[in-house]
Amino acid sequence: MTHKKLIVGNWKMNPATLAEAKTLARKFKKAAAKLVHTEAVICPPLPFITSCAGRLTSSGKLNAPHFHMGAQVASTQEESGPHTGEVGAHMLRDIGVEFVIIGHSEQRKRGDTDLVVAARLKAVLDQGMTPILCVGESVRDESGAYLDALKNQIKASCGDLLKKSAKSIIVAYEPIWAIGAAEAMKPEDVYETSLFIKKVFADLFGADMGLKVTILYGGSVTYRNAPDIIAVGKVDGLLVGRESVNAPGFVEMLKAVDLVG
Ligand code: PGA
Repeated sequence: MTHKKLIVGNWKMNPATLAEAKTLARKFKKAAAKLVHTEAVICPPLPFITSCAGRLTSSGKLNAPHFHMGAQVASTQEESGPHTGEVGAHMLRDIGVEFVIIGHSEQRKRGDTDLVVAARLKAVLDQGMTPILCVGESVRDESGAYLDALKNQIKASCGDLLKKSAKSIIVAYEPIWAIGAAEAMKPEDVYETSLFIKKVFADLFGADMGLKVTILYGGSVTYRNAPDIIAVGKVDGLLVGRESVNAPGFVEMLKAVDLVG
């Protein structure tokens, strides 16, 4: 792999306090500064983002090498206005957020349809940020029907985009059965499915996009299995849940993945 790997921490609704969030961010910033082949992204809950980001540069960027801020949601509403409870993509960009997780299965379960996912995706792209589009099957059947489900989900979420916009998307392949589970998907299977996703992208946006699309794997990644998922699964990075709020585990993961080169 010639380009840098991306390790994204999806903190979900954790930790419980601002003090804990700041401690985690401080530790991860320090670990990220030593990375050579890897970039780290943390996605804290919205109320903690500003404190975790620290003071921004005059151009609105984070002042921490190899360390980036992400968010777990952005509104479908693109303009400020009477939208109680919503957080606009423009507001996230203004506080130093560069990445936004879209279409996570936990949000889809709470009601995000493919249409809503597509609208959030557009709002994030319009602000020049990078959406991390989560896709994944709920079960794996022997007949391979899950591949069709995966293809349809990708098409419905981003198939209408222009190629120019599609280039900015990161796809996080998260088989739902592997999220919050005891074990991750086997690296060989990660590889096979990532090839399938590349093919879907090639069909939708042209052959070169199949080669270029950035694919992360997510689902029960730990510091122990991460290097193999990168090396054998040949993905561009990882989307990490539980291990991303376990300070020693996430720091170890950053180090271990960086050594894969
Ligand atoms: P997990 O979560 O690493 O705890 O399985 C992954 C995710 O939901 O993104």
